[in-house]
Amino acid sequence: MNVDELFMKKCIDISLNGMGMVSPNPMVGCVIVHENKIVGKGYHKFYGDLHAERHAIDSVSNKDILKNSTLYVNLEPCSHHGKQPPCTDYIKKYDIPKVVIGCNDPHKLVCGNGINELLKNNISITKNVLLNSCRSLNRRFITFHESKRPYIILKFAKSADGYIAPLNQNKPFWMTSKKAKDTVHKWRSQEDAILVGRKTVEKDNPQLTVRNCKGKNPIRILIDRNLKTNKKFLIYNDDAITIIFNEIKSEIIGTNQYIKINFKNTEKEILNKLHENNIQSVLIEGGRDTINHFINKNLWDEARVFNSNHQIHDGIKSPEIFGKPKEIEQFPEEVLEKFTNNAIY
Ligand SMILES: NC(=O)c1ccc[n+]([C@@H]2O[C@H](COP(=O)([O-])OP(=O)(O)OC[C@H]3O[C@@H](n4cnc5c(N)ncnc54)[C@H](OP(=O)(O)O)[C@@H]3O)[C@@H](O)[C@H]2O)c1
Repeated sequence: MNVDELFMKKCIDISLNGMGMVSPNPMVGCVIVHENKIVGKGYHKFYGDLHAERHAIDSVSNKDILKNSTLYVNLEPCSHHGKQPPCTDYIKKYDIPKVVIGCNDPHKLVCGNGINELLKNNISITKNVLLNSCRSLNRRFITFHESKRPYIILKFAKSADGYIAPLNQNKPFWMTSKKAKDTVHKWRSQEDAILVGRKTVEKDNPQLTVRNCKGKNPIRILIDRNLKTNKKFLIYNDDAITIIFNEIKSEIIGTNQYIKINFKNTEKEILNKLHENNIQSVLIEGGRDTINHFINKNLWDEARVFNSNHQIHDGIKSPEIFGKPKEIEQFPEEVLEKFTNNAIY
């Protein structure tokens, strides 16, 4: 790694402190470097909070040295008034002569305007440093703005003989270890929404909330075309907001939001509605039918598959993800395989 890459890596590392807190904003970290030493740093902590650049500049006690410093940031600084004033104004105010940027911000109000504003003010720019890592870091935000849909993560557990559940299931069924369950709860806390099909609710009665770790509950989403599910299922409780996609009614009842859609192009309709509702990421937790609809339309970005040691013998066949996993992790009773399916990084 060269020097610019080392400081950019630091920006990425500190930005991750904002994971699960900043959406619909991106994760951003910033460091200020003077004479090859980091003299200030900051990250975007939660939605509505000061931006990373401002935190980093504010953290430098001797503001005089800013005139001879370089600001590193993983995402193009903003140049418009949102919940916070433009970062480019703050950079200009302190005469910072050089800015190193990881990747462009695809938000329609930024989209190159931040870089142009800095260049207009004779600030030197180096861009695309650790480009792929910076895009991967904000893959939810980038997919949302570039593809106009949420980032889609498929998640399921598969038995050693290739099933996701027994055929005649009359009570909730688990085949993964406590460590895998805890991991899934952490994943839920990192996404804006979690989606399941009608039969998963009827068979498993899942709560779809974050309970095994700290973190916010995602919005729960159920596909129930004819509103067949009983309102006593836990997905309808008020622990979190639930969106029910159906073809009968649009209505809000307490924390339950019914959204009527056309089931001719179901997945596209659902993703459009989620985009309209500012939902940047969705974890699809099953079952087979639901996951296969998204696979068949090639509407997914990541798949996380737990391959369990347990056998089921006769059950519902697991969805198939073809290709080589990008990552493999050993768990006590299963192996986690992570696949990717997109071209954004
Ligand atoms: N091992 C795991 O990781 C895991 C995870 C979750 C669930 N499961 C198991 O999976 C089983 C359920 O899976 P499943 O395949 O039978 O059912 P499912 O995917 O849970 O639900 C399917 C139903 O949801 C609706 N639906 C889902 N996607 C749709 C789409 N794109 N367009 C239209 N309707 C859509 C349809 O309801 P309508 O018929 O009303 O139209 C469909 O029949 C359960 O036994 C559960 O325990 C296992």
